[in-house]
Amino acid sequence: MPDVTEQIDAVSREAQSELAAVAKADDLEQFRIKYLGTKGRLKDLMQLLGQVPREQKPVVGQQVNALKQELTARFEEKKSTLGAGADKGPVEDVTEPGQRPPIGNRHILMMVADELTELFGRLGFAVASGPEVEDEFHNFIALNIPESHPARDPLDNFYLAAETGEGRSRGLDRGQNQQLLRTQTSTVQIRVMETQKPPIRVVIPGRVYRPDTHDETHLSMFHQLEALVIDENVTMVDLKSTVIQFVHAYFGADTKVRFRPSFFPFTEPSAEVDVWFEDKQKWIELGGCGMVHPNVLKAVNIDAEKYSGWAFGFGIERIAMRKYGIHDIRLFVENDVRFLRQF
Ligand code: DAH
Repeated sequence: MPDVTEQIDAVSREAQSELAAVAKADDLEQFRIKYLGTKGRLKDLMQLLGQVPREQKPVVGQQVNALKQELTARFEEKKSTLGAGADKGPVEDVTEPGQRPPIGNRHILMMVADELTELFGRLGFAVASGPEVEDEFHNFIALNIPESHPARDPLDNFYLAAETGEGRSRGLDRGQNQQLLRTQTSTVQIRVMETQKPPIRVVIPGRVYRPDTHDETHLSMFHQLEALVIDENVTMVDLKSTVIQFVHAYFGADTKVRFRPSFFPFTEPSAEVDVWFEDKQKWIELGGCGMVHPNVLKAVNIDAEKYSGWAFGFGIERIAMRKYGIHDIRLFVENDVRFLRQF
């Protein structure tokens, strides 16, 4: 049966030359289907065996099998040299060090602010915000800080020169509701109570400004986390237990915390919260807190007979310093990437 043997040779030659030209995984698959597939050329040759005289069948059968083995081996060989991604460019050397260009990370203060709002979120607090350019009404007047209070001294505030229309629309004379960069996030307590009815349960992370000389513990721009809760039957027990819960959840269950009696015009009674700084062996003040003063509720038309509440304002830099062992507040704003990349 020279006829069949010739056909076997022809398929062999064709297949070899086609396989030599294969350069992509797709083409290799086409080759496999065409020659080795269930309806491929080798299958056709097998079927031809039926027409071969009985005595020649073993020989011809062997030739077809040999070709099949040969082509399968060549196919596998080609497959391994092409590799999975061979058509997408050169093969990667996975032993080389990574070459991802250095990209930035979030600033440590923003990460801490997120950690705090997330933690208070779990305690049922929503997040609120307000403008950094404020007026005296929100920064002082509604917070029960009288004109005579030293906090309103021009030397202690970044007053803006221009007067806007908002003060006049509130019926205040020119010069009576001057704009300034807010000195505290307590301003947002007022803004929240102007637009929301109790029950209120919010935290307010934000930037504040004071004309302080920069040193290890002072910056003229820093961040506070304010909290405000207004509801019926709210007592100082709620304030203290929430603050203690926060300190224990954030700094660790055995962290020492204490409340010192203090004074703020917008709370009565007022206290300052200190946390024990183990490595410095001293108390560090987180900020102030207290029961919202009835005059504050009056300023925003909330019935002080029916509702009561508490508030606090903590320094976020201080919290971050306590948590991450940072000893100089100026590091937060110097933008030294060796510092920033550590977090
Ligand atoms: N606003 C105060 C400050 O910046 C901190 C503060 C004290 C906020 C008592 C409060 C509070 O909400 O109840 O010094």
